[in-house]
Amino acid sequence: MKIAITGKGGVGKTTFSSMLSRMFAEDGYRVVAVDADPDANLALALGFPRDVYDSLVPISDMKKLVSDRTAAETGTFNKMFKLNPKVDDIPDNYCKEHNGVRLLTLGTVDSGGSGCVCPEHVLLKRLCSHLILQNKDVVVMDMEAGIEHLGRGTAQGVDAFIVVVEPGERSLQTYRKVKKLGNDIGVKKVFVVGNKIRNKEDEEFIIQNLENGEALGFIYYNQDVINSDRSNQSPYDTSEETREQVRVIRDRLMSLQNLK
Ligand SMILES: Nc1ncnc2c1ncn2[C@@H]1O[C@H](COP(=O)(O)OP(=O)(O)OP(=O)(O)O)[C@@H](O)[C@H]1O
Ligand SMILES: [Mg+2]
Repeated sequence: MKIAITGKGGVGKTTFSSMLSRMFAEDGYRVVAVDADPDANLALALGFPRDVYDSLVPISDMKKLVSDRTAAETGTFNKMFKLNPKVDDIPDNYCKEHNGVRLLTLGTVDSGGSGCVCPEHVLLKRLCSHLILQNKDVVVMDMEAGIEHLGRGTAQGVDAFIVVVEPGERSLQTYRKVKKLGNDIGVKKVFVVGNKIRNKEDEEFIIQNLENGEALGFIYYNQDVINSDRSNQSPYDTSEETREQVRVIRDRLMSLQNLK
């Protein structure tokens, strides 16, 4: 299963991605967590030690890797390079692992618009479509905020988008846009997770505004989550209540995807 976690800025995509990844790993799945946000910080939410975090080099910054595999110079545009670079060894060789989760940091691709065909982009796109190898593999992609980049490629071919929303109109509007875009690029399943919920009215507000969309569940506002962010810990380790709420969401997702 390959899912992309999307939504408006600051709604809790990285928090949720990290907790979902850790949960699948703890339950014996082979998990690759993909940090697809150029402003990468998934490693911290996964609980990676600071020194490992500081040493992470995004794939797009590995100039030699990109040029070796695509037979092109990075930063070039519309020149000749391989469109089918070898990527199968990259997850094993370039992921960092912690708490059973393998992390892949994609980095920034200077895109020339939606039709970008620079070598970095081709490599990342091919890499992302190669991440699922076995049945018990789960790929969780923590996406950049907003929707502009979603059509560009790395999120194409996912089984589902999960849109994290807050109980407010602005993040729900982002959800509606993602849903439409999902239809346009062939991602049929677009689920919702409500985050920073305070009470039943918040849950109701979200449900009433989904236009037949599917809410996988709700995560309540929790000071422990804030504190974990302040102390560079994984919310998975510090916030038991939130972890149980994520478990309900995870189980619902698996039943909808027919997974055991
Ligand atoms: N359930 C929650 N309760 C309290 N605080 C939360 C909750 N979920 C997330 N937060 C806090 O909200 C802030 C933003 O969370 P996070 O970084 O996960 O959002 P994001 O959607 O990934 O943001 P960005 O768009 O910048 O990537 C963080 O300080 C985080 O600790
Ligand atoms: Mg984030």
